[in-house]
Amino acid sequence: MSVQPIAPPSGIMLKEIIAAQEEIFVARQPNSARLAEQAKQHLAGGVTSSWQITAPQPVWLSHGQGSKVYDVDGNEYVDLHGGYGAALAGHGHPAIQEAVTAQVSRGTHFAQPTPNAVAVARELARRFGLPRWRFANSGTEATMDAVHLMRSITGRDLIIKIEGCYHGHHDSVQVSVAPEPEQAGPAASPYSAPSSTGIPKAITDLTLIATFNDLDSVARLLETHQDQVAGMIIEPIMMNAGIIKPEPGYLASLKNLLHQHRALLTFDEVKTGLTVGPGGVTRQEGVQPDLITLAKSLGGGVSVAAIGGTEAVMEHVANGGYEMVGTFNGNPLAMAATRAMLCEVATPAAYEKIEKLRRRAAEGIEQAIADTGLTAHVVTAGAKGCVVFAAEPVTSYRGFLGVDDRYSHAHWLYQHNGGVFLPPWGKIEQWLISVQHDEADIDRLAEAVEACREMFLR
Ligand SMILES: Cc1ncc(COP(=O)(O)O)c(C=O)c1O
Repeated sequence: MSVQPIAPPSGIMLKEIIAAQEEIFVARQPNSARLAEQAKQHLAGGVTSSWQITAPQPVWLSHGQGSKVYDVDGNEYVDLHGGYGAALAGHGHPAIQEAVTAQVSRGTHFAQPTPNAVAVARELARRFGLPRWRFANSGTEATMDAVHLMRSITGRDLIIKIEGCYHGHHDSVQVSVAPEPEQAGPAASPYSAPSSTGIPKAITDLTLIATFNDLDSVARLLETHQDQVAGMIIEPIMMNAGIIKPEPGYLASLKNLLHQHRALLTFDEVKTGLTVGPGGVTRQEGVQPDLITLAKSLGGGVSVAAIGGTEAVMEHVANGGYEMVGTFNGNPLAMAATRAMLCEVATPAAYEKIEKLRRRAAEGIEQAIADTGLTAHVVTAGAKGCVVFAAEPVTSYRGFLGVDDRYSHAHWLYQHNGGVFLPPWGKIEQWLISVQHDEADIDRLAEAVEACREMFLR
């Protein structure tokens, strides 16, 4: 039975609710608190990546198994954090274990190609439709190479990027990732706002900013900067601002528009690649870009990235027009894990199972929202999904800016205290269902959404 939306709590009440949930959170994790304190002495900020600094304190993990992770205080969680979207295989998957263990005893690094690299490239070509591939170690490296390649091939310096997309932490793309309203500029012509210190303005100025789902914003930039734009990089489904999907026809039109201006198109499928389906958004939407970047779940939890390109683009690499290099590129351990991931883990049967769980999550949460009257909706894309605490769907970054992050943080705390580990960072991130999750795991997610009614009822 559905109920009328109920009035959201006042700011003061929400603050109290968050404080109470954070108190429960900290009380459950004394060992994490101790480690966090000790870690500050020799780890900058007490963590290994700045995005691990989360309120009220970082969660220190002991181990993972299957669909679960365990913190150093012995608490078990259904893991839907998935290491920021990298654990599609779940934890300790037998196929990954076997592949990695076998490779460890045969050598973990040569900086020479191994046969698994051929099998991986062949399988990526089959899934994504782009014929030739290279490897790297992280999403950042992959998108850096893609941007370099677009510039190298066209001999042009400018690139276009979408406001609110994240493509890693190299200079060219650390622009307008999550700009505050006062930095972002007018909606019709967003500024190129630096997303980090340490990036020279001269480089930020080379990245032009367009709006997702708005073809005209790209057309305007291409016309204003005739023959100067090398290409565009885009998350074909935005996944660093909740989940924002492309409108029908948008990606195909984008490709045509860029090609009319002899500029290239890169789909950054680092997050979406294996998680939305076997061949990413590329296959789902039937639009083939000039370049694709993959990372995160590709290596079954081992660090690896891939860059795929058309014949024309990759010939530029093959003939030395652009030197794509890296000591650990195509590392044998990463290639062994990736081969197992592609051939034994991310199988058609696995995608069928994930689709059933996706549907169960969406229906369960929609029901919880209807039953409780929360002002929220759920968005899913394959193994990924999120609850958006807003009445209306979000179609671009400016809409996302209007979503009140305090509800998302409170939701994260309720889930965590209830034994479900979602990625922190409130409204930005999504859950990841792995091949090892089951219906009971998904039901716990939906149940904790129901618990959120408490924050609207006090
Ligand atoms: C879409 C996208 N591209 C690139 C990256 C960077 O990947 P990495 O953190 O492996 O450098 C991320 C990371 O979250 C991402 O979400």
